[in-house]
Amino acid sequence: MAETIRETFLRRNPKSAELHPRFKKVLPSGVSHDMRVTDPFPICIARGEGAHKWDVDGNEYIDYGLGSASLLLGHAHPDVVKALIDVAPYGSHYGLPIEAELEWGERVCDLMPCADKVRFVGSGAEATMLAMRIARGYTGKNKMIRWESHYHGWHDYVMPGTLPPFDRPASIGIPEGAIASVIVLPTDLAVLERTLANDNDIAGVITEGSGASYGTVPLPPGFLEGVRSLTEQYGVVMILDEVITGFRWSPGGLQKKIGLMPDLCTMAKVLTGGLPGGAVGGRDQFMQVMEQTGDAGHDRFERVSHGGTFNANPYCAATGNAALSIVATGEMQDQADRMAARLRTGLQELFNRYEVPAAVYGDASTFHVYFGGRSIEGLDANTLKNISPAIQQNFRQAVQNHGVDLMSRCSGVLSGVHTEADIDQTLEGFDEAIKAMLAEGILQAE
Ligand SMILES: Cc1ncc(COP(=O)(O)O)c(C=O)c1O
Repeated sequence: MAETIRETFLRRNPKSAELHPRFKKVLPSGVSHDMRVTDPFPICIARGEGAHKWDVDGNEYIDYGLGSASLLLGHAHPDVVKALIDVAPYGSHYGLPIEAELEWGERVCDLMPCADKVRFVGSGAEATMLAMRIARGYTGKNKMIRWESHYHGWHDYVMPGTLPPFDRPASIGIPEGAIASVIVLPTDLAVLERTLANDNDIAGVITEGSGASYGTVPLPPGFLEGVRSLTEQYGVVMILDEVITGFRWSPGGLQKKIGLMPDLCTMAKVLTGGLPGGAVGGRDQFMQVMEQTGDAGHDRFERVSHGGTFNANPYCAATGNAALSIVATGEMQDQADRMAARLRTGLQELFNRYEVPAAVYGDASTFHVYFGGRSIEGLDANTLKNISPAIQQNFRQAVQNHGVDLMSRCSGVLSGVHTEADIDQTLEGFDEAIKAMLAEGILQAE
């Protein structure tokens, strides 16, 4: 009898299996990010180069996880590596401004339409946290509207609404005050308008530009434009979370691509060339609330305060500048988008050939597989949770067994260094994975 997907996985990954108990001994659930938990254990990675990575057992993967979508330039892009090596000997922190930070800030303001000014932070979550504080500081109001299932990091103000059921925060340990300050809505402009009309304490609306979880649940057509005009009408701050879409959807992010001007945007990932870091960019009038004027009363009591030891540190500023100088041409995004389109088409053809009712979709350089039918018509944040646990559990493992890794269970992102040959090989891997899932009865032909 043929091996099961799990048996193949165990056979291929003895070293990862051996390390797993040691991971579990020192790290809760054996990981440093909840999303890395996998049954029976996550593969342990040794190195990456370009569109590929290798695990501790020597297995090679074509990578569609790419550092949680931070590596638009692929693993260890030579210019990013050189920038890091060049600055490494000169120290990691001086506690004062550096020229590389100025250059980095100028690049961000040149590329991102809404960024008259930028403040660097330590991560994407810090960026959304600061943007919310700026919105509250600017308006003097307390509440933030967010959309069901959109991901903005892990801090207290974004845990309500991340996972269904949406009336329960995605974590315990969130203070009631924080929960009460967040209004979670379905992506429905009529509901937004009603909420804005009936509540006078709303500071802002935060939206993941791609739709929930890098586009897993796409936004209705015209939605972002609708949010823009309603936020303007009601005088609340529009925050566009471009942690994923920034520099990836286009050199100027989603906002440049669709010609939308938010009040504030949040960035991370590609911003630093795949190192730690993030930023909030915004129109002058909003970023103004961070300015110190020298007036003691104003600076102590009427200003948004912000710190962070490693903000714009020399290493991340150097890699950020190297990455953004490449990203600015748009060539990486074009290549990534082209290869993603080929991958989506090829994968859909495979499902069709095997008569498996699945829909492949995604914007820009992303792809998602919906195992609930041949179309994503009517797909919402709740529907996705109804996909069979066996499929969710096995798809990523099945493709890993054939040399392909994803970003999450049924989704991935591409880089500008994925080639036609990578896509061909990936489709062969998907083909084998689908056959294995059919053989085991995890997928059924219609
Ligand atoms: C849209 C979005 N916002 C915010 C974040 C949080 O970023 P970080 O993980 O750097 O804190 C993420 C992370 O994946 C994200 O996808």
